[in-house]
Amino acid sequence: MKPVLEFANVTVSFGGLKAVNDVSFTVYEGQIFGLIGPNGAGKTTAFNAITGFYKPDKGDILFYGESIVGKPTWWISRKGISRTFQNIRLFKNLTVLDNVRIALHQTARYGLFDAAARLTPRFATREEEVLSVSAELLQSVGLYDEKDKIASQLPYGKQRELEIARALALKPKLLLLDEPAAGMNPTETRELAKYIKEIRDRLGITVFVIEHHMDLVMTICEEIAVMDFGVKIAQGKPEDIKNDPRVIAAYLGQEVEESA
Ligand SMILES: Nc1ncnc2c1ncn2[C@@H]1O[C@H](COP(=O)(O)OP(=O)(O)O)[C@@H](O)[C@H]1O
Ligand SMILES: [Mg+2]
Repeated sequence: MKPVLEFANVTVSFGGLKAVNDVSFTVYEGQIFGLIGPNGAGKTTAFNAITGFYKPDKGDILFYGESIVGKPTWWISRKGISRTFQNIRLFKNLTVLDNVRIALHQTARYGLFDAAARLTPRFATREEEVLSVSAELLQSVGLYDEKDKIASQLPYGKQRELEIARALALKPKLLLLDEPAAGMNPTETRELAKYIKEIRDRLGITVFVIEHHMDLVMTICEEIAVMDFGVKIAQGKPEDIKNDPRVIAAYLGQEVEESA
């Protein structure tokens, strides 16, 4: 198996707080890799370090063997790492199609369309090409029938799927999803699980998903790492993680706090 992302002994601090404390794990090509842990464990901070938003104090982050530490966020996304955020960030008053078109235009500004692909004889104008690629993308993720709907009118689960579709406009090799099932009911969560699996299976994209609740990751991830208070406390297959006493303790502590 080929390593896509190597997170090696990474520490990220905010003042005296080590939000990520000497954490290591490797995500392999074609995997759906999960990172779980109670609120405040340091999961989003890990994503922010990968995407170049925060610079680690220590450690290294390799993408296909190349260090991406200290590189600007646009460079990292151009290299092939795309992400979604914990809160939905769509243009709510625009259509589904327009949301994807805008994402593609942003991509073009980064020069992601290579010269060979740009304005092939199939397309008379740049806009025609963008429209065609947007339609293709929506088809590939099963949202094409929704293309003329206003984003805010989609059910919550579909808005999440659209957000993921926008992240795919950047043609990533690695897709980072930050709590994609947050606020979803069990039916929506099952639908999302199917959707994420299809992205991996059909588009061949490696997926790295953060979750606070365990349901989604347990069904879709082949490998799961667990963080608590900035430290990695466990890693393994879903069955092992579910039964790991350290993981159970971390989550029980959280439940006590939440109900207090
Ligand atoms: N920009 C920041 N400045 C200061 N503290 C932060 C910042 N971002 C995150 N933290 C702190 O780092 C810890 C980890 O946060 P975060 O990575 O968001 O956790 P998670 O995503 O696992 O819920 C928390 O204690 C949080 O308050
Ligand atoms: Mg978070």
